[in-house]
Amino acid sequence: MARHPLRPRFTGPLAALALGAVTVPALAGPDVRIGRETTVPPPISHEAIATGAVGLPEVLEIGRQLFEARFTTPDGAGRPAATAAEVPTRRELGDTPAFLRTSGPDANACAGCHIQGMVGGSGDFSMNVFVAPQDLEFDFDTVAPDLSMERGTPSITGAGFLELLAREMTADLHRLRGEALAEARTTGEPVTVDLVTKDVRFGQLTALPDGFVDVSRVDGVHPDLIVKPFSQKAVVISLRQFSVAAFNTHHGMQPDERFGRRWTGLADFDLDGIAEELTDGHITAATLFQAALPPPIQVMPDHPVLAEATERGEVLFGEIGCAACHRPRLILDDPVFTEPGPFNPAGTLRDGDTDAIASVDLAALWGDWIEVLPDGRVAVRAYTDLRRHRIADPETPHFANEMLTHNFVPRDQFRTAPLWGVGSTAPFGHRGDVTTLDEVIRHHGGEAADSRRAYEALADLDRRSVIQFLQSLQIVPLAPDFSTRHAGLGR
Ligand code: HEC
Ligand code: HEC
Repeated sequence: MARHPLRPRFTGPLAALALGAVTVPALAGPDVRIGRETTVPPPISHEAIATGAVGLPEVLEIGRQLFEARFTTPDGAGRPAATAAEVPTRRELGDTPAFLRTSGPDANACAGCHIQGMVGGSGDFSMNVFVAPQDLEFDFDTVAPDLSMERGTPSITGAGFLELLAREMTADLHRLRGEALAEARTTGEPVTVDLVTKDVRFGQLTALPDGFVDVSRVDGVHPDLIVKPFSQKAVVISLRQFSVAAFNTHHGMQPDERFGRRWTGLADFDLDGIAEELTDGHITAATLFQAALPPPIQVMPDHPVLAEATERGEVLFGEIGCAACHRPRLILDDPVFTEPGPFNPAGTLRDGDTDAIASVDLAALWGDWIEVLPDGRVAVRAYTDLRRHRIADPETPHFANEMLTHNFVPRDQFRTAPLWGVGSTAPFGHRGDVTTLDEVIRHHGGEAADSRRAYEALADLDRRSVIQFLQSLQIVPLAPDFSTRHAGLGR
């Protein structure tokens, strides 16, 4: 197995950028205003990014600024007349607090929560979010589980690779469905197919000759067969879809592509006096910044005893069945991240909405830190299968701790947590309420019950070797020198 040793090098503009040291003269130059209290970079269009008029380092810098910005009222922070709901929803203008820890706005910056390990990383328990389903959107001042689903902050590092894997898996599943429908139509007989992509199984579907599709045995993904890599419930399609909602929910900053004239007829939907708070180019920049965050890597301990235990733990991780869900490698055919993506829902810029597609070659950015195969494909070592599993049962109920059903997903199902940075992201579990890896493994029930029992049955030293292996999977906050090899934007 390829190891990716820690080799931080501090040269090159992008390396400096990841450390927050780059200034962008073109942007900083003319905008000299004494006592300025805005944080949002000047408006930028998606087209300017996609055509390469603004270069990749600048785009990533704008994205970083947006991710770290502590938004202010002159920026448009706050949403006096809008709720946190994903679909633009009005609330009566009245005496609403500027911040509310429960229903939001609940933070000043994305990096207010995504900060452990590095900007874009995970969050402490105190940064938990109370996710409310769209139809229950109002100000609530209780954390009772019948009003919201409490979730801990996962890390976004490496997320560009996860989104690309999910896009390829979705394309495969849609192709299988199309082929089954075509065959059923031709033969006049029902056709049942196994929904398998990248060696991951999503149950079965049956196509009927009249074009009806029986999805009752589809498993781990919604019946739309769109693999959704984001949110711990696996209900969000893309970084862009997540970001558009997050800017409004957490900060009261409305992205124009959803809250602007096109969908709501208003340039200032939340009636805070600031129109067009975030342009489509801002969202593209914020999305590309997240997509280009470094993938977590394995860092071998220096001490030979610990290094040997790490290797032994990795073998055991496979032997006791952990790797059945936490897949050590998923093969990505094409590492070029294109934006906007192909499966975005309405209200999120989609590739059909624009001819201008921005792209970043993630393999060119992170070639030293990932396993690029001789044919150009990439082995993504994220330790997930990007699907949901039933993870609780009456004997092991910990993970069935939510009372609401999120986007029709059963309450005991969650996304297989990607483990590639788990050595850096304590606390654990979707609520962030578990302090050790040993405890979180012991909370595995449902489909993972056999594997958990196998873990519990291991000799003490073997169990600790599994933990030692998990601790080697880390978010490394330093950028390597990829300055001369980064891909240009646009195509
Ligand atoms: C108050 C804390 C908080 C703030 C602020 C915040 N997030 Fe998050 N973020 C979370 C939590 C909690 C989740 C997990 C949600 C879930 O599982 O349902 C999350 C999940 C995500 C994910 C999906 C990650 C994954 O692996 O599923 C993305 C992407 C993301 N946030 C981006 C952003 C962006 C962009 C911003 C700023 C506009 C932001 N977040 C602001 C707490 C926060
Ligand atoms: C049936 C699929 C499945 C199997 C098998 C499985 N897991 Fe998991 N694992 C999950 C899911 C789903 C979650 C997310 C649980 C949650 O927080 O809701 C998870 C979460 C975790 C976490 C917490 C990650 C975090 O960031 O909080 C760790 C650590 C983990 N698993 C390790 C293991 C180990 C070690 C094994 C083998 C003993 C194992 N898992 C077997 C599905 C599985």
